[in-house]
Amino acid sequence: MLPFQYIDDQLHCEAVPLAALAAEFGTPLYVYSANRLRENYRRIASAFAQLKPTICYSVKANGNLSILRLLKDEGAGFDIVSGGELFRVMTIGAEAGKVVFAGVGKTAAEIEAALRAGVGWINVESEGELRRVNEIAGRLGAKPNVAIRLRPDVEADTHHHISTGSAASKFGVPMEAAWAMARRHWPNVSLRGVHVHIGSQLGSPNGTLRAIEAALEFARRASRAGAQIDSLDIGGGFPVAYRDDDAPPDVEAFAAIIAPRLDSWPGRILIEPGRSVVANSGLLLTSVQYNKERIVIVDAGMHTLIRPALYEAHHRVWPVERGGELRRADVAGPICESADFLARDRMLPPMAEGDLLAVLDAGAYGLAMASNYNSRPLPAEVMVDGESYRLIRRRQTPGEMIASEV
Ligand SMILES: Cc1ncc(COP(=O)(O)O)c(C=O)c1O
Repeated sequence: MLPFQYIDDQLHCEAVPLAALAAEFGTPLYVYSANRLRENYRRIASAFAQLKPTICYSVKANGNLSILRLLKDEGAGFDIVSGGELFRVMTIGAEAGKVVFAGVGKTAAEIEAALRAGVGWINVESEGELRRVNEIAGRLGAKPNVAIRLRPDVEADTHHHISTGSAASKFGVPMEAAWAMARRHWPNVSLRGVHVHIGSQLGSPNGTLRAIEAALEFARRASRAGAQIDSLDIGGGFPVAYRDDDAPPDVEAFAAIIAPRLDSWPGRILIEPGRSVVANSGLLLTSVQYNKERIVIVDAGMHTLIRPALYEAHHRVWPVERGGELRRADVAGPICESADFLARDRMLPPMAEGDLLAVLDAGAYGLAMASNYNSRPLPAEVMVDGESYRLIRRRQTPGEMIASEV
């Protein structure tokens, strides 16, 4: 069953008409297909099966507890970047050993919480952080596995805001500095891993392959010096198609280039996919408020889905009810910012007040990046599984929005 398709001109998620979900839960509303989520996860697992990787779903893409639980049931571990994400994965009972903690700005409190939880890996991004992890581990009597995130000086083939591996990036540690870190004695950590992640929505596997070469070189150098690096985390970044005519390399194409290179790697391999698991399993339902010249003004906007405003990202927009002659239109949100457009120059049927639009491929970095800007409460989320569905996040109330303020 397709995750999103028209049945009698009515857009459905699996077997459920989206109009019925909008009527029951209101809009803006994120809707996810459970079967597409499972399919995406299994596809990545099967593409890389020969490497027997630990797949650590990148929580930043979408951290809803029900999505995390579904992926845990599929066997996923988790890639986290904050104490808040640690709290999420521990709340759903994730196996701590399959949790990888990355990020450039881990606070002492976050590191301590991660060590107490017993996470599998701390991926350090600077010498100062390694010193801090070593100190806290000593105090707690822990000996965590640590990986150094390399900055392999690879220009990723993607938008500059989501490129992380180039020399100018704030992420990771340049090769020579990483080598200097690895040669020091850190009595309270087990420095056994190397990590690379060069960006998101990668246009080709070539950059990842070059980053992996750098990581392998780092491991070889370590072993020549008598140290052992036996874990290689190759990050995420697998792209998804956001346009009808997009044809990014699929995960099998990434695996076909990457897996043969790593076949002889004797250690552990970790992968951290985010977007490729959730993006096309979710859409955003929004209802039309007004027509203003050629602009259709809707109740979702940059506060609900910031990607178009932030990255000039393209999301397909489909009418929930198909029919009528198509005309050019822009789709804008209610936020008081000129950048608050969800789509420009699209062919849409005439839309009346109250009609519904679906913004496709919004499952990744959608609700995860949503905000209360203009004091608009966060939207609700629904998970559809075949003919059944359930609310997986209540719509935030205005009271909840201000609850922590004085
Ligand atoms: C360290 C790390 N791993 C994995 C990911 C997930 O990337 P993607 O959602 O493109 O798969 C990110 C995204 O920013 C990241 O920073």
